[in-house]
Amino acid sequence: TWTTHNVVEEQVAAIQRQVGDKRVICGLSGGVDSAVAAALVQKAVGDQLTCVFVDHGLLRKGEAEQVEKDFVAATGVRLKVVDAQERFLTALAGRTDPEEKRKIIGREFIRVFEQAASEVVAEAGEHGEAVEFLVQGTLYPDVVESGGGTGTANIKSHHNVGGLPEDLQFQLVEPLRQLFKDEVRKVGEELGLPSEIVWRQPFPGPGLGIRIIGEVNGPRLDLLREADAIAREELTAAGLDRDIWQCPVVLLADVRSVGVQGDGRTYGHPIVLRPVSSEDAMTADWSRLPYDVLARISTRITNEVADVNRVVLDITSKPPGTIEWE
Ligand code: XMP
Repeated sequence: TWTTHNVVEEQVAAIQRQVGDKRVICGLSGGVDSAVAAALVQKAVGDQLTCVFVDHGLLRKGEAEQVEKDFVAATGVRLKVVDAQERFLTALAGRTDPEEKRKIIGREFIRVFEQAASEVVAEAGEHGEAVEFLVQGTLYPDVVESGGGTGTANIKSHHNVGGLPEDLQFQLVEPLRQLFKDEVRKVGEELGLPSEIVWRQPFPGPGLGIRIIGEVNGPRLDLLREADAIAREELTAAGLDRDIWQCPVVLLADVRSVGVQGDGRTYGHPIVLRPVSSEDAMTADWSRLPYDVLARISTRITNEVADVNRVVLDITSKPPGTIEWE
């Protein structure tokens, strides 16, 4: 029978069999999946694990600090933080195609991990052996939607499934591959992770990179980060965090519309709010948020974020729309 306890026991045993006494690295994204995957691997092989947090510059406000504080405090895991903002922005320059952006981000992630892995070995001194394994927080829906599961069509290359380079030098450890999100949360609770981590809303690995429709660059990221922080703040203040699955905030960077702000005409960009309710992200419905909450978010974003003069609400279910815009 399926119990969270059994899943933990089975996965710990499976990880021990797979990894033996070799070294493992795990990328932490700040999200629940990578956190739970890392905690399982740590339970299985202890300090053979080093976690790597890549700050790719596509994160939301406060996210890097959160990983450094919450997760390390809860687990005592060994953490390496890599500042790779320049690298990702350079690789993404001029790119607008969603699949291309995803593949670039997936590829750069792996390159950064490879470099971090060789540093882990160097830091271990003369007893350092190569890192052979990479942990990924891949869930069952990621497998299915990237076409690797039951043979369904390839919808998107989730960066941790379809977007890996072919010459990957690691073997993958994917202890969540058979689980849905709600099961992952139960496993996280069983492992004693704090509720801020376990109940965090989903956030895609490619981050804000796939929420800027158009080219990704520094100023656009700053703008979107501000808008996203406002939306999250207001949703939290309204007590809606557990009612919605997630609320992507999207910048239509190549679209402009005319507005009137202060004493004059503006020609700015629209921000899209995409609040959804869902059980497992395979299907979703748009959330009927209270109008006053929507109004507060809209007023604050247009007042506080320069170059944004319009906020629109996405009222599409999945299908036909996916949750993310890219
Ligand atoms: P879509 O847009 O496919 O999203 O309806 C379904 C769920 O997956 C998240 N998502 C990702 N998560 N890597 C991830 O770890 C990715 O590349 C990725 N793309 C989408 C999305 O936020 C939603 O929860």
